[in-house]
Amino acid sequence: MRTLTSRIAFLPLLVLALTSLSACVDEKIVYRDRELFEDPPSGAADFIGYSDQEAKLTVCGNCHVEKQGEWAGTGHAEAWEGLQASGAAQTFCEGCHTVSELGNAVTEAGGYNATQDARYEDVQCESCHGPGLDHVTNPTRATIPLAPMTVGLENTEGCGECHQGTHHPFVEQWEESGHGTLIGFAAGRDGCKNCHSGNGALASWGVNTNYKEAGETFEITCAVCHDPHAHDNEGQLRFPIGGVAIEDNLCSQCHNRRVEPDPGSSHGLEPHAPETALLSGDAGWFPPGLTIERGDIIASHGSEGNEDLCATCHVASFTVTDKATGDFAFQAVGHGFNAIPCVDADGIPNNEDCGLSTTERSYEGCLGSGCHSSPEAAFSALQSATTSLEFWVEELKGLLVQVDPNLASSGGEIDATDGKFTLAEGAYFNMAMAEFGGSGRPDPRLAYAGAAVHNPFLTEQLLIASIKVVKEQYGVQLSSPDLVLERRILPDGR
Ligand code: HEC
Ligand code: HEC
Ligand code: HEC
Ligand code: HEC
Ligand code: HEC
Ligand code: HEC
Ligand code: HEC
Ligand code: HEC
Repeated sequence: MRTLTSRIAFLPLLVLALTSLSACVDEKIVYRDRELFEDPPSGAADFIGYSDQEAKLTVCGNCHVEKQGEWAGTGHAEAWEGLQASGAAQTFCEGCHTVSELGNAVTEAGGYNATQDARYEDVQCESCHGPGLDHVTNPTRATIPLAPMTVGLENTEGCGECHQGTHHPFVEQWEESGHGTLIGFAAGRDGCKNCHSGNGALASWGVNTNYKEAGETFEITCAVCHDPHAHDNEGQLRFPIGGVAIEDNLCSQCHNRRVEPDPGSSHGLEPHAPETALLSGDAGWFPPGLTIERGDIIASHGSEGNEDLCATCHVASFTVTDKATGDFAFQAVGHGFNAIPCVDADGIPNNEDCGLSTTERSYEGCLGSGCHSSPEAAFSALQSATTSLEFWVEELKGLLVQVDPNLASSGGEIDATDGKFTLAEGAYFNMAMAEFGGSGRPDPRLAYAGAAVHNPFLTEQLLIASIKVVKEQYGVQLSSPDLVLERRILPDGR
């Protein structure tokens, strides 16, 4: 067994080694010539925990001073107090509120679960990084306790080992979401992987730190959106979610790809994640003669009144109670990222396909901050906007088929591969954006819903202006000669 003396005797050597390595040593690491910790109790599985519990100074934090400072401001550093303050603390609660085998690769009881030693209280560095005794005794590259980035309900490490269960089913919901699923070819390709993989996104944001799966391809996991140490943004997020400064917004880092036609691309007529730009009034093809400018039309959903922008609707938490008893049944945490998720007979969100009605889906995300008074009110606003958009899309499609009977297939006025841009192509892009947004899963029941919520007013104006331009330019006929080309969706319609 290693003794404390041998450890301290080792320190001067270490300082020497560091001075000679100075070019490659992280200046965020500070050395202190004092006792770091007492040997962990037997059975602790080499977890070392706090060095000074009162001060919440972790053993790791003696050297990794910057990380210590960041971590101390996160909820993880308060996890034990939170549990005690609940008045409901029981033994089985403790593993997730302390340093234990949960969250890291250790699989037998360790840390608090094995010893009930107070040094392991709170979710500390080792909860994620794993036991640090080896590294602290001999801090070299070979002993670095790397944290995992990947998660899954079946995994025996990662955030999901604690962030699961009916009270906080983050990993369950995430696993079924688009972010928990990779499109293989896009995740591995340059030019795609910045948005379609977790590793690619981190690299493109300049997060070049070391973790277990470095060099591998993985999904958009928890610690891609969340910064495990920092608390600069609410919810420990790497970018803020509030405000309309879209360059800074977390979701907009990726949900902002092809927002207007691109004559240089063979996919140039397919909108690709245009949600951000649609919300900020900047998506679509603006036909000649249209009197509005980019950014002029912002629906209330994209306005400053909607403080959390995308997350208000797409990351909405709500409690499901038992219909018979009124008791707690399930805490939905919004990590399926669906704004109006399908629900089962008990009202619990699932990832199935379903119709749009208020019994088949949850409209809870629409009720926050008093936005809509009831699920029915939100549903009816959605229906009236989708009905109008569908009407204009059908009308525009009727014209475009006269211009180019095979629409976007190769040949004719609408052909993304011929290198020439036509008015019919611009109109086609607007039509596609209104119908399915950027979604790759065209469920007809969800047609028009994205555009109807993200920015119905802009979408409608683009469709009407497209209809006018196509009709005049190509001399084609509307379904009825008397059709009045006037807006049907009015701002007070909700
Ligand atoms: C005695 C000082 C000391 C303590 C205590 C210490 N480390 Fe380290 N740590 C280092 C040094 C030195 C390095 C750089 C090793 C190298 O590159 O050769 C390092 C590297 C790391 C790295 C990799 C950083 C990088 O830039 O690649 C991680 C992660 C890490 N430590 C985590 C921890 C954790 C978790 C703990 C607590 C269990 C901890 N360290 C405790 C000194 C320490
Ligand atoms: C499977 C791991 C796990 C178990 C077991 C667990 N918790 Fe938690 N607990 C968590 C996670 C993860 C959070 C954070 C959830 C969030 O932020 O939405 C949390 C949050 C809490 C909070 C809110 C903390 C705060 O400061 O606001 C309280 C209170 C709490 N738990 C009490 C309990 C009690 C009481 C038990 C046992 C009856 C328990 N927990 C068992 C993982 C667990
Ligand atoms: C050992 C269990 C455990 C692990 C592992 C864990 N968490 Fe937590 N997490 C908790 C508990 C418990 C809380 C509630 C703490 C509180 O607020 O009292 C929490 C809270 C949070 C919060 C809310 C913080 C706040 O300030 O309100 C976020 C965000 C979070 N965790 C993200 C993560 C991410 C991302 C990972 C993986 C990189 C992770 N957690 C790993 C147990 C864990
Ligand atoms: C909730 C899980 C979690 C907790 C708690 C946590 N870390 Fe980390 N840590 C990670 C993950 C995941 C990464 C890799 C991604 C990143 O850097 O954002 C990481 C990265 C690091 C790195 C950077 C490695 C590099 O290559 O530069 C260091 C150093 C580190 N952690 C030390 C600490 C210390 C010290 C603490 C406690 C004060 C701590 N961590 C707490 C999950 C965690
Ligand atoms: C696509 C980005 C994204 C991914 C991936 C993601 N989250 Fe989140 N998470 C968010 C957003 C946005 C919020 C809302 C924060 C807010 O409202 O302040 C949030 C909130 C949370 C909270 C509550 C924070 C609080 O302040 O109470 C916890 C805990 C959390 N996430 C854990 C996780 C875990 C665990 C995973 C992986 C299973 C995960 N998240 C994956 C974006 C993400
Ligand atoms: C790192 C890039 C990235 C970030 C950040 C990100 N997303 Fe995504 N998101 C994607 C990708 C890529 C997909 C498509 C995944 C697939 O289908 O394989 C997706 C899918 C989705 C879907 C499902 C779409 C569908 O067609 O079913 C929703 C909804 C969504 N994201 C909302 C959000 C929200 C809200 C945020 C911010 C809290 C966010 N995303 C942050 C990349 C990202
Ligand atoms: C700027 C970020 C970004 C880049 C770069 C990007 N995408 Fe996407 N892509 C997304 C987002 C976000 C979604 C989900 C949007 C939605 O559903 O509306 C998506 C959706 C998709 C879909 C449909 C999703 C599904 O579930 O079927 C496919 C296919 C796709 N992208 C392929 C690619 C390919 C191939 C590339 C590279 C040539 C690429 N993407 C580059 C952000 C991006
Ligand atoms: C006012 C609520 C609300 C806001 C704000 C919102 N969405 Fe949506 N979003 C919805 C609804 C409702 C749907 C349609 C239902 C569906 O497709 O699942 C949707 C659909 C989507 C889709 C599926 C593809 C599509 O375009 O139809 C993605 C991806 C998406 N939203 C991402 C985002 C992003 C990113 C933001 C922020 C830039 C955002 N949403 C803002 C409610 C909202």
